[in-house]
Amino acid sequence: MLQTEGSARISLGKDVFLNPKMSQLRDLSVLFLKVASAKDALLLDATSATGIRAIRYAKEAGIRKAVLLDINKDAANASRRNVKANKLKFPVINKSIQEFANTANARYDIIDLDPFGSPAPYIHDIMKLVGDNTILMVTATDTAVLCGAHEAACIKIYNSKPLHTVLCKEAGIRILISYIARTAAQFNCGIEPMLGISDMHYMRVFLRIHYGAKNAVDSLKRTGFCVYCSNCNGFSFHKGVAPTISNRCAYCGKAASISGPMWLGDLHNGEILKKMSKESGELNNGSRTQLKTITNELDTPMFYSIPSMTKSLSIGSVSHKEVMKNLEKKGFKVSITQFEKESIKTDARPGDVIRAVKSSR
Ligand SMILES: C[S@@+](CC[C@H](N)C(=O)[O-])C[C@H]1O[C@@H](n2cnc3c(N)ncnc32)[C@H](O)[C@@H]1O
Repeated sequence: MLQTEGSARISLGKDVFLNPKMSQLRDLSVLFLKVASAKDALLLDATSATGIRAIRYAKEAGIRKAVLLDINKDAANASRRNVKANKLKFPVINKSIQEFANTANARYDIIDLDPFGSPAPYIHDIMKLVGDNTILMVTATDTAVLCGAHEAACIKIYNSKPLHTVLCKEAGIRILISYIARTAAQFNCGIEPMLGISDMHYMRVFLRIHYGAKNAVDSLKRTGFCVYCSNCNGFSFHKGVAPTISNRCAYCGKAASISGPMWLGDLHNGEILKKMSKESGELNNGSRTQLKTITNELDTPMFYSIPSMTKSLSIGSVSHKEVMKNLEKKGFKVSITQFEKESIKTDARPGDVIRAVKSSR
């Protein structure tokens, strides 16, 4: 069966995975590489399945050198067939990431890791394949784990305590990044997140690797813990490996939840996002709206869910747009967020947001 996505023509094989619902994310990954990578970069599509990613990155983002890898024989055969059918000449290797990483002698400039479920078990081996400035693109579809529906699983897989509240998606993506930062540090590498996306059942992070002990330590300094209060909806952060943390809310004094370690630094690179927006003409409406939301999103950790706040305050619903207007009038920065509907990111403190919510009735 032949399928077309972007400039790629793909034939599926028996038991070879292709999720058409991920095409929007593949579109954004193509656009990201178009603006963030060099054309002579060497790409590893570490979980190639049909080979659609490497093929699209070559035909649409101008990547000229790639290696495709898949543990599954049928998938490797499908990738080989599709690479040839799209008139490309990339090697396809039928090995596991683990086996490949222990025998490979090349360093890759771009690595796409898109496994089933959690990427955590592969990050250690992937780190053996990176060089200074490597772009790492990592998908996680174990969002129930990262979002805290299975707390013990998150602790076991990511060594982090999740935040099973309205903030769970942002906490989840930050837990994933901190796991990558902590693994990268073991290899004397730091990380620079350039784009973080959370949508439907997936999270995807785009990072750059920076060699050096100082970079590794600097990244670790940007991980830490979040204290979230479901009474006043306030949150505070404590950076470092073992900071002193009270489980009382810093604003209202009520008992609060502690979650982490998680990444507390920036999620996005503004320059890259600007360039992506400029080149976004060929995206469909859904991807363009998603990119616009992310580009305009304030890059500060966590947000206020207006429905959660009205519920805690026992008042009727108010429009988040009205709350945004009220905060802007007072001189605060404010934006919507990709992580939750009717929710806002702002530099205002909980008391200011509560006042803005009350005056929006
Ligand atoms: C979600 S699919 C990849 C989808 C593809 N990137 C796309 O966009 O359509 C995951 C692929 O990873 C492969 N895989 C699973 N474990 C692996 C491992 N240890 N090493 C290499 N490939 C692996 C599976 O065989 C499967 O084809």
